[in-house]
Amino acid sequence: MTTAILSAFAQEQTGLIELLERPERVQRAGRYFWRGHLQGQPVVLALSKLGKVAAATTATTVIEAFGAKQLVFTGVAGGVGPGVQVGDVVLATDFVQHDMDCSPLFPRYEIPLYGQSRFACDAALNAHLLIAAQQALVGLGADFDAQLHADLPRVHQGLIASGDRFVSSATEVAALVQGLTQAGHPPLAVEMEGAAVAQVCHDYGVPFAAVRTISDRADDSAHVDFNAFVRDTASRYAVGIVLGFLDGIPTA
Ligand code: ADE
Repeated sequence: MTTAILSAFAQEQTGLIELLERPERVQRAGRYFWRGHLQGQPVVLALSKLGKVAAATTATTVIEAFGAKQLVFTGVAGGVGPGVQVGDVVLATDFVQHDMDCSPLFPRYEIPLYGQSRFACDAALNAHLLIAAQQALVGLGADFDAQLHADLPRVHQGLIASGDRFVSSATEVAALVQGLTQAGHPPLAVEMEGAAVAQVCHDYGVPFAAVRTISDRADDSAHVDFNAFVRDTASRYAVGIVLGFLDGIPTA
């Protein structure tokens, strides 16, 4: 059973490609996909690119063309929930699109014609990802806690908000969190792809899970923190979590 591992940036994917057994690079839909095995499991590695539409294309292609039966997204996100700090990990329970607003035709944040605002992640995949993320943080936390923040990195579980915007100011993030919270959707983190992949997986009935390492606080210094984090740290987190996850799931 093929598992698709999606990443937003090449830096997050490189470490996994290096470990791929019997790697095969395939071009499709203007992207490169890497087929092979990791920890004995058949996988396809793919870059989502940035934003919801690009991510939806990648998700659809791994399902339709590569036969992926489950999808896992690893990447970075801006921490917006209380206590969600740089270096922490957020395991998504579900996703909302913070830039979806078809009001007054539909309630703000509701996906038109789906009758829902949130798409849930798969509970069984999440159980494996949680263990993998916790184990990865034990291994990596000692290296990173001094650089990133005073506390040991933590795994949080909750709602992630996606939208086609890199959130990079204190005013912007405050308005975004306030709007979502007032509508009953308080987010822990923001990024730009997860909700799109969750919706595609919902459409196909394919289990989906996502884990995001916090690279910034979506505030005025977000772009500085983000670039340094993706370059220095994100790839190590992604490799640790994905390998642990694949070790934990049953072989089919
Ligand atoms: N991914 C990582 N940081 C982000 C931010 N601040 N806004 C949107 N996506 C992100």
